Amino acid sequence: MAEFINPAIVPKVTLPSGEEVPCMGMGTFGSDRVSAEDVSAAVAGAIRSGYRMFDCAACYGNEHQIGEVFQEAFREGVVERKDLFIMTKVWNDMHRKVEEACLKSISDLKCEYLDLYFIHWPFPNYHAPGCDVNSRNPDSRPFSVEEFMDTYRQCEALVEKGVIRYIGISNMTIPKLEAVLPLMKIRPAACELELHVCFQQQELYDYLVAHNIQPVGYMPLGSPRRPERDICPEDVADLQLPEMKEIAAAHGGVHPALIALKWAHQRGEISIPFSVHNYASNLKCVTEDPLTEEEMKKIATLEKGNRLVKGQVFLWEGAKDWHDLWDEDGVIVK
Ligand SMILES: NC(=O)c1ccc[n+]([C@@H]2O[C@H](COP(=O)([O-])OP(=O)(O)OC[C@H]3O[C@@H](n4cnc5c(N)ncnc54)[C@H](OP(=O)(O)O)[C@@H]3O)[C@@H](O)[C@H]2O)c1
Repeated sequence: MAEFINPAIVPKVTLPSGEEVPCMGMGTFGSDRVSAEDVSAAVAGAIRSGYRMFDCAACYGNEHQIGEVFQEAFREGVVERKDLFIMTKVWNDMHRKVEEACLKSISDLKCEYLDLYFIHWPFPNYHAPGCDVNSRNPDSRPFSVEEFMDTYRQCEALVEKGVIRYIGISNMTIPKLEAVLPLMKIRPAACELELHVCFQQQELYDYLVAHNIQPVGYMPLGSPRRPERDICPEDVADLQLPEMKEIAAAHGGVHPALIALKWAHQRGEISIPFSVHNYASNLKCVTEDPLTEEEMKKIATLEKGNRLVKGQVFLWEGAKDWHDLWDEDGVIVK
């Protein structure tokens, strides 16, 4: 049985509403390598180890199995529903039917309501999970403020109905945020974005903080076992960097993964590492032995602009390449 970390000692992050939530949740994407059964078994263990936040998604194909695990934990009295902070996401093929997608996730997760519901990608461009990076959907279109806001309005209606507590956005850029934030009635509580030592996205990070939107960092360990299709020869392995190994050695020879998670926490984000073997040590590491200011500064220099989730499958006809998804010149690419 994995070690228990008292949730009361897990550091908290304050959402724009003033609510305090854990600084770490568990990711649940099996990366095409870990079965739904093994992911849900890890979620069962993680609840019993003290995790109170979980990052799910309809497209991970395992909400049903995770729901069984939540139900079991409620039935056994390990936790009550209100003790958990459950996040999930609407997939790209359901942008016109957000309520239906949301109710399906709630029913699969057996969780009555959602704490935070993300729009997983800012366009409705659908591709089946697991497809090859070179496949293109002829119906794919560039970002549209009107289409995005239609999806967002449906999320706002779900808040008003009490079905979800907060709205989240994900895989956004500053130009897209500039276009849509002024149009929102209910501000997003959080934005999920790729954040790790070799991809720190400092400008977007600072923008989110300045606009009172909590950054939630995905792939905080540089996703060493990400799906084959997301691996490029030029990618850098964050946890293999000599500087990370050096800092890990200075902290009693721990795994560099724990250094990456301490850094993410001390930077102020919520991190959502996935793990079937190390989830307890991951949660524990943010409760003890912080990095020094110097170590934080050293890690800040390790930025390499190494985006791992490039998003090729969401490209539309006429798009140049994956860079078009990320508005790198400061304007929305159409
Ligand atoms: N919004 C989005 O578009 C989006 C995109 C991608 C991901 N996400 C979310 O972010 C979560 C995390 O991303 P990810 O799963 O791709 O990558 P990650 O959390 O960076 O890395 C997970 C990998 O690291 C290993 N690991 C975890 N803790 C470790 C430790 N202490 N020591 C050594 N190895 C360790 C895990 O192996 P073990 O299982 O063996 O521990 C697993 O293979 C996902 O699960 C998902 O919930 C969201």
